Amino acid sequence: MIDPQSEMSVKNYNISILSGDGIGPEVMDEAIRVLDSVSGKHEFNLTLDNQLVGGIAIDEKSTPLPEETVKSCEESDAILFGSVGGPKWESLPPDQQPERGALLPLRKHFGLFANLRPSLCFPSLVGASPVRTDIIEGGFDVLCVRELTGGIYFGEPKSINEIDGEKTAIDTMVYRESEIERIAHVAFNAAKGRSNKLTSIDKANVLRNGILWRETVEKISQQYPEVTLDHLYVDNAAMQLIRRPKEFDVVLAPNLFGDILSDEMAMIAGSLGMLASASLGESKGDGLYFGMYEPSGGSAPDIAGQGIANPCAQILSASLMLRYSLGLNEAADSIDNAVRRTIDDGFRTGDIFTDEPNTIQVNTSEMGNKIIENLS
Ligand code: IPM
Ligand code: MG
Repeated sequence: MIDPQSEMSVKNYNISILSGDGIGPEVMDEAIRVLDSVSGKHEFNLTLDNQLVGGIAIDEKSTPLPEETVKSCEESDAILFGSVGGPKWESLPPDQQPERGALLPLRKHFGLFANLRPSLCFPSLVGASPVRTDIIEGGFDVLCVRELTGGIYFGEPKSINEIDGEKTAIDTMVYRESEIERIAHVAFNAAKGRSNKLTSIDKANVLRNGILWRETVEKISQQYPEVTLDHLYVDNAAMQLIRRPKEFDVVLAPNLFGDILSDEMAMIAGSLGMLASASLGESKGDGLYFGMYEPSGGSAPDIAGQGIANPCAQILSASLMLRYSLGLNEAADSIDNAVRRTIDDGFRTGDIFTDEPNTIQVNTSEMGNKIIENLS
């Protein structure tokens, strides 16, 4: 039940809901309906606190990340995030734009250094992928572990200034050994729980960062003898992921490379609209994490407001939240299975609709309804 007044015996969790812009609020509505239903079935209570973030916060509070929003997140067990940004705010000064002014500071503020992006291609969704069916026959399951609070996204100096009489942009890629070590541990542990295979991505043939990255991942690998480790340069990885996606299991990447490769993986799997993500901080010691959960895709302003967006990524992000921040694994399984069954039954939003037999095109809320019907 999502009800602040519920009985004391039912465990309660506080969740900050940051729907944001574009399709964010539409897909968030479906995730909340799914959470409401699953919490009733699995007997826990969520107290939801809706807060402004991104463009809508700029419009209403003159800042993309209002203090109340940060405070709500600080007091919550987890953050469920929609998406931010859109053409309306693109011409603002860089630091005031929704992405740089809200999303990146939230990641940094809460130390959410580990971004898990499961790229799961259901066998029944193979036809929605632009990749040839014989390459992805039977589907695949790759987990991208992306470093999220370091690298070229955050390194200093970062500026656009006049140098030698012309405008010059500077972004700096910085990785400390300890930053590489902690994300490597996340990736090795993830691989241990899967098929013991880890591919680490770098650009060690050009970047100093790549040399340290590779060296450090190698060093950490000695603590995980059961995991087979290999390394790929990022350009080669971009190619191999399309050529032979089924041969990958866990992919570990620095911030920028993980950003790029995870979009590629999403597309190979069928659509960005299917891909959830979890951004996690250090473990709280009980196997759980404070985290922010969001679809890997963006605010999709081109289809916002039409009620046709795919809510699966947001719903699957809610499932990751139950699993990693609240430890409610059965409820999370129930959501994952319901999404899978709904897809297997042939229901498709526009982004994953093909003219295959036995498929039915549905809108955002119809997809939500079908998933709710399939919850156990
Ligand atoms: C993502 C997004 C963000 C990123 C943008 C919106 C800043 O692309 O989460 O992958 O680059 O990290
Ligand atoms: Mg991205």
